[in-house]
Amino acid sequence: MSAPDYGVQTVLLTGASSGIGAAFATALAARGADLVLVARRADRLTALAGELRRAHGVRAETVPFDLSRPDAGPALHRAVADRGVTVTSLINNAAVGSFALFADADPARLAAELAVDVAAPVQLTAAFLPGILAAGNGFIVNVAGVSAYLPSPRMAVYSAAKAFVSSFTESLWAELRGTGVTVLAVGPGATATEFTAGMGPDAGVLTSRRLRTPGDVVATALAHLDRRDPGPTVIDGRSNRLALSASRLMTRRRRALMMRRVFAPAQG
Ligand SMILES: NC(=O)c1ccc[n+]([C@@H]2O[C@H](COP(=O)([O-])OP(=O)(O)OC[C@H]3O[C@@H](n4cnc5c(N)ncnc54)[C@H](OP(=O)(O)O)[C@@H]3O)[C@@H](O)[C@H]2O)c1
Repeated sequence: MSAPDYGVQTVLLTGASSGIGAAFATALAARGADLVLVARRADRLTALAGELRRAHGVRAETVPFDLSRPDAGPALHRAVADRGVTVTSLINNAAVGSFALFADADPARLAAELAVDVAAPVQLTAAFLPGILAAGNGFIVNVAGVSAYLPSPRMAVYSAAKAFVSSFTESLWAELRGTGVTVLAVGPGATATEFTAGMGPDAGVLTSRRLRTPGDVVATALAHLDRRDPGPTVIDGRSNRLALSASRLMTRRRRALMMRRVFAPAQG
């Protein structure tokens, strides 16, 4: 399997209005890919699409869309078809999280996390896979996270959602071998984006460490995609990789208790 030819791709990218998604859009446009940018904030998508068209001469469509809709897959597929676009690659990047003890969490918010973080990537993959397979030279990238591999007290549902994304992606990677379609789960660790902004008052603990940049995460993902016969998963950042390797040496009990300390809200 060889590196994707980005110049012939039309990539549908969710969560393109900020953070890692916006960085993916910029890097892919610079490589010549056409884009379909999806998120709720239409103004941000329009501004980014205009910039990318001007800077790189690519086609950049915007689809303001709420991925928590129960019919996200077929509805987004219709919206894209209505614009006369054929998607050849997909990046499921959008997600939401919250930071609170499960006992205190808002059930509606947890339901939205499951809809955006779990159901939408599955539905979008199902909806766009026939076209992606027909093109046969693209990729499906799902953004998981380091928390896919660690228990995350106060982010129990988010972390379990990322574990789902990781497992789903690895199975899909194996299923699609030989089709010409590359499948990859990208695992960022703490990264400087807007992600923690709406996660609740105690979420500051998540950004108290040294942060990677969205550009770092995207560079890691694209370098991996460019490899000959890439594996199903890549973790961004050496210290994240080291931390995960070290955690695998612990018992599950020790690991869960360690993460309880790591995510304990700052005192004072
Ligand atoms: N930042 C980190 O430390 C970190 C660590 C590990 C993994 N990740 C993962 O990285 C990915 C990107 O997150 P980010 O850090 O770049 O955060 P971000 O800046 O908050 O971006 C999240 C994106 O998801 C979109 N989104 C959220 N809810 C949506 C909905 N209902 N419908 C459509 N779009 C929705 C947002 O757009 P709108 O608000 O405009 O809809 C935004 O574009 C996520 O999968 C996240 O889990 C991040």
